[in-house]
Amino acid sequence: MATEILIPSLIKIGGGAMAEAASILKRLEVRHPLIVTDGFLVRVGLAESLRAQIENAGIACGIFSETVPDPTTDAVAAGLRIFADGAHDGLVSLGGGSPIDTAKAIAMLAANGGRARDYKVPNEIPKQGPVHLAIPTTAGTGSEVSRFTVITDSETDEKMLIAGASLVPNAAIVDFELTMSMPARLTADTGTDSLTHAIEAYVSRKANAFADAFAMTAMKTIWAALPIAFREPDNRGSRESMMLAATQAGMAFSNASVALVHGMSRPIGAHFHVAHGLSNAMLLPAVTAFSVKAAEPRYAECARAIGVADRSDSDPEAGRKLVDALFERNRELEVPSPKKYGIDEERYFSLIPTMAKQALTSGSPQNNPRVPTSEEIEEIYRQIWV
Ligand SMILES: [Fe+2]
Repeated sequence: MATEILIPSLIKIGGGAMAEAASILKRLEVRHPLIVTDGFLVRVGLAESLRAQIENAGIACGIFSETVPDPTTDAVAAGLRIFADGAHDGLVSLGGGSPIDTAKAIAMLAANGGRARDYKVPNEIPKQGPVHLAIPTTAGTGSEVSRFTVITDSETDEKMLIAGASLVPNAAIVDFELTMSMPARLTADTGTDSLTHAIEAYVSRKANAFADAFAMTAMKTIWAALPIAFREPDNRGSRESMMLAATQAGMAFSNASVALVHGMSRPIGAHFHVAHGLSNAMLLPAVTAFSVKAAEPRYAECARAIGVADRSDSDPEAGRKLVDALFERNRELEVPSPKKYGIDEERYFSLIPTMAKQALTSGSPQNNPRVPTSEEIEEIYRQIWV
């Protein structure tokens, strides 16, 4: 079977690249874009400086800033109204995964009508939406290059995975200077999300040689750079490395897939409002321990790539070292367990069967090297409580 690779047709990478947003919009022939961002980026002035840059180039530009973390169907509907009422013809998303995912859903609904739930996996998105330029400010979700959006249904609280070629942004600006002010917690969580993308893409049942190359280089870079960016927020070299690697990890998982960690992470996020990268981090070591035997040579290559094992280690030994290193890394990055995070114990345990069901229906666990039963997923949720 041939592998289909989808990436944006234009990616500008480098410090200061945001200054090229207006010229990119001109190349893409966008005449009246809507910036989709969040309240924080409006308050710090970044959204307004982007709008000024675009308007100075003679392109009238609006701003929608009512996106929310874990984007909801309600927030998407509000953005869609502004997009339609303003007769906009393109989108510029500015922010972390939430504004980018919101813009993707706005574009999808603008072109296809209906509701977000009509398009959740495995349903298809028939028509391509308006032009979308994505500018991430975290390193990161990889959403700027991916074919996925995750939208929470405001009525059911379900985190819906929506996938399709039309969701890949047309262009992306990958400018590490936008990440310099990320606080330590956000740096750790978004960086661990990227690491999870790289590892899951590499061990996934949908892994392929194109995605492998990006996954390998991303995990190697992230493993070395993330603790430095976490401890020394002003370290430009580590910020630059993390930003590039996050985009590479995004290209890897978008063209392979994510797996069990992401499948189990979305329900934790939906029910307990834990940031996406943090719920991934809570799960990554335990899920790797569960999965490692089913793809020992692949996990062993991950261990060697990040430098926690070498050629003298057998695959089983390297796999064990990877699991140990992931647990240790969580301690280093001060990742709390669900219990230490302050989640209500009774509610957590009573929701485990529901979360297991939602994890399985998302389709991601089926890409895992070891495909879990519902009972096994429930057991992992219990294990990570501590
Ligand atoms: Fe992710």
